[in-house]
Amino acid sequence: MTETDYRALDARYYMPAFGRERMLVKGRGARVWDDQGNEFIDCVAGIAVCSTGHCHPHVVEAICRQARELIHISNLYYVPGQAELAKRVVEFTGMHKAFFSNSGAEANEGAIKLARIATGRRTFVAFEHCFHGRTMGSLAVTHKPAIREPFEPLEPGCAFVPYGDLEALKSAVTRETAGVFVEAIQGEAGVICPPDDFFRGVRDLCDDTGALMIADEVQTGMGRTGKWLGIQHTGVEPDVVTLAKGIGSGFPMGALAAREGLEFGRSQHGSTFAGGPLACAAANATIDVLEEALPSVAGKGERFRAALAAHDPRVRGLMMGITVGDACAGIAAACAENGVLVNCAADGNLRLVPPLVIENDDIDRVCAVLHAAIG
Ligand SMILES: Cc1ncc(COP(=O)(O)O)c(C=O)c1O
Repeated sequence: MTETDYRALDARYYMPAFGRERMLVKGRGARVWDDQGNEFIDCVAGIAVCSTGHCHPHVVEAICRQARELIHISNLYYVPGQAELAKRVVEFTGMHKAFFSNSGAEANEGAIKLARIATGRRTFVAFEHCFHGRTMGSLAVTHKPAIREPFEPLEPGCAFVPYGDLEALKSAVTRETAGVFVEAIQGEAGVICPPDDFFRGVRDLCDDTGALMIADEVQTGMGRTGKWLGIQHTGVEPDVVTLAKGIGSGFPMGALAAREGLEFGRSQHGSTFAGGPLACAAANATIDVLEEALPSVAGKGERFRAALAAHDPRVRGLMMGITVGDACAGIAAACAENGVLVNCAADGNLRLVPPLVIENDDIDRVCAVLHAAIG
C-alpha cells in the first residue's frame, strides 16, 4: 500500500483527532525509520515514552517471554511481576504503596479519588498551563481552555493559579482543598521550570491546610530529568506521585504511589487491564535498563546545553525546551528534512525528549541540525 493510499484509508475510517505528518514503521535505540526508508534521530520518543529507546532487546525479550506464558489474568488473582514492580516503584519514589493504571490520565484519576477519600474534601488546585490528561477527572484539573472548555461543566471543581506563584497559591488553597496537582516541570506547556523554592512552598501550604500534594511525574518521571522523579531535585516529598509515559518503554502503563496512610481499600478502585502481566514485564525490564542509563542522563543533558547555548535552552536532564515563537513548526519541519524529529509543545516551544539511551554522536548531530534550523 502506498503512503497516499494509507492516508486515504486513515481519513476514511479513523476519527481525525490528531494532525500527523509521516508514518514511522521501525525503531532501534534512538533511531526510527519511515515507510519511505528515511532515517531519523528521534527526539520525540513517543512524547517522552520510549525511555529505553525503541525496541530495547531486554524489554522486547521480557514482553515476548511473558506473552508465551500468560498475557492476561485479571486482578482477581495475583499477577506475575506486579508485586515486584510495586516494590521497585515504592523504593524509587520514596512512597509507601503503589497501584497501577493504563495511562497517565488514569493515574491522575486515581490520585483524584485517593485525595477525595483521604481528605473527605472535594475540590482541587492546579496551575495555569498544566496538563494532567483528557479523561473527565484529569481534564477537570487540566488548564488549557481549548481542550477543557468544550467538555464543561467538569467535576471535580478546580482553581488554577500561575505556575510558580506561591502568593496566588496561598489564596487558592484552603481547608476545603482535597489536593494540589503540580508538575515538576510543565512539559506540555513547553518545558517550563518554576523557581527553586516553589515546591517547598507548595509542601508547606499543603501541610498547613491538609491538602494532599500530588506530583504529576507522568512526563518528568522515570529518569527523564536525571533522577527517578523530577521533584527529587528539590528535596521535597509529595504525598502522591503519578507516573506513566517512560515506565513501560511504550507498553501502555501508568502508576500511582502514595505515602503511608494513603491507600485504596477493597473495591475503592480497580481496573480490568491495569498492572497486567505484559505491562509489568515491560515495566520491570524498563527499570532494569533505566537503572543503568540513569547516571548518564545529566551529562547528556549538559552536552545538549553546551551545544545549544546560543538558543537559551531550558535543560533538565534529557527534557529540553527552546522558545522559538511562530517559527516552531517550520523549524521542526526543517529538522525532519535533515533527519531529526522534534516537536512543538504549546505555542512556540521546541521540545526535545530523546530516549535516555541516546548516544553522544547522535546528540552532536541533533544539535548541529537544530542549530542550523533555528538559524
Ligand atoms: C504531565 C502529564 N500528565 C498526564 C498526562 C496524560 O497522560 P496520558 O496521555 O498517558 O493519559 C500527560 C501526557 O502528556 C502529561 O504530560
